[in-house]
Amino acid sequence: QLPSRVKIIDVGPRDGLQNEKQPVPSEVKVGLVQRLQDAGLAEIEVTSYVSPKWVPQMADNHEVMQAIARKDGVRYSVLTPNLKGWEAAQQDRPDEIVVFGAASEAFSQKNINCSIAESIERFAPVVEAARAAGVAVRGAMSCTVGCPYEGDIAPGRVAYLAGLMKGIGVERVDVADTIGVGTPLAVQRAIEATQQHYGIDQISGHFHDTYGQALANTLAALQLGVWNFQSSVAGLGGCPYAKGATGNVATEDLVFMLQGLGIETGIDLDRLVDAGVFISDFLGRKPNSRVATALLNK
Ligand code: HMG
Ligand code: MG
Repeated sequence: QLPSRVKIIDVGPRDGLQNEKQPVPSEVKVGLVQRLQDAGLAEIEVTSYVSPKWVPQMADNHEVMQAIARKDGVRYSVLTPNLKGWEAAQQDRPDEIVVFGAASEAFSQKNINCSIAESIERFAPVVEAARAAGVAVRGAMSCTVGCPYEGDIAPGRVAYLAGLMKGIGVERVDVADTIGVGTPLAVQRAIEATQQHYGIDQISGHFHDTYGQALANTLAALQLGVWNFQSSVAGLGGCPYAKGATGNVATEDLVFMLQGLGIETGIDLDRLVDAGVFISDFLGRKPNSRVATALLNK
């Protein structure tokens, strides 16, 4: 019995664009957010409050957050790795902040320049401040099946990180396959490990599609009852600190599969394809989505 409804967080404006070498003007990012909400996305990861030296593409976080035309019922989330990030983000009134840790020590060091234990110490005051301000808190867990530096990651490491996230008050967590090496059973093991600390309603799947497994992994997660997923319109994305990792599963492909399964998403596929064309045209390439390609060639 699969869930009857799925909620998708489109992470295109954040995960999708953070790794783009060419500068993307704030107006284009704002235009992308607008098209995503017009297509029916109820959750959009807009930007991150990280060091502009580390991730130059997200340096315009404030401009973008100020310029988006917020729609009632849509949740706008942003990444905040530390108190400095939270303090900057707070001015721009996000609905949800995301602290981001890793199940792999090496990845934690490369991505956020500290150990897993140190990252939790940094996140704790951020989580506390956000919750006191009535802002929701999500925790991204990177490398839950594989790490670009350490290889396979055992489910026990995922359970450990999930426990630390729970301990500091993170309300829900993303099981992320950062480099897209996961296959369905491995992803199920990572989700089950997370379930030691979080209920299935508080777990979302975040699958990069590097090896073409993301939809299969999504189905495997649905079979466990997961009904929150992250994806990127036009298959944008990649993490600058995970070499070779390509985009998230394309939102268009995810929606098409869910529609075929009779699962409600509230998303208009045609308008979503238009959103993907908008950003892909700007970037000078075709949408990295099989469904978008098929529909555009029809
Ligand atoms: P650090 O160098 O250890 O930080 O970086 P620091 O506290 O020592 O500060 C050093 C400098 O950074 C100082 O500036 C700070 O002011 C500045 P300086 O005095 O040298 O001019 N700084 C900041 N500036 C703006 N905003 C901040 C901030 N914090 C410090 N929040 C830090 C630590 C985390 C900041 C850094 O490592 C960083 O920015 N990393 C970027 C991480 C990132 O954005 N990665 C991509 C997102 S995660 C992802 O994609 C995975 C995900 O999709 C799930 C998955 O697929 O796995 C979520
Ligand atoms: Mg990611």
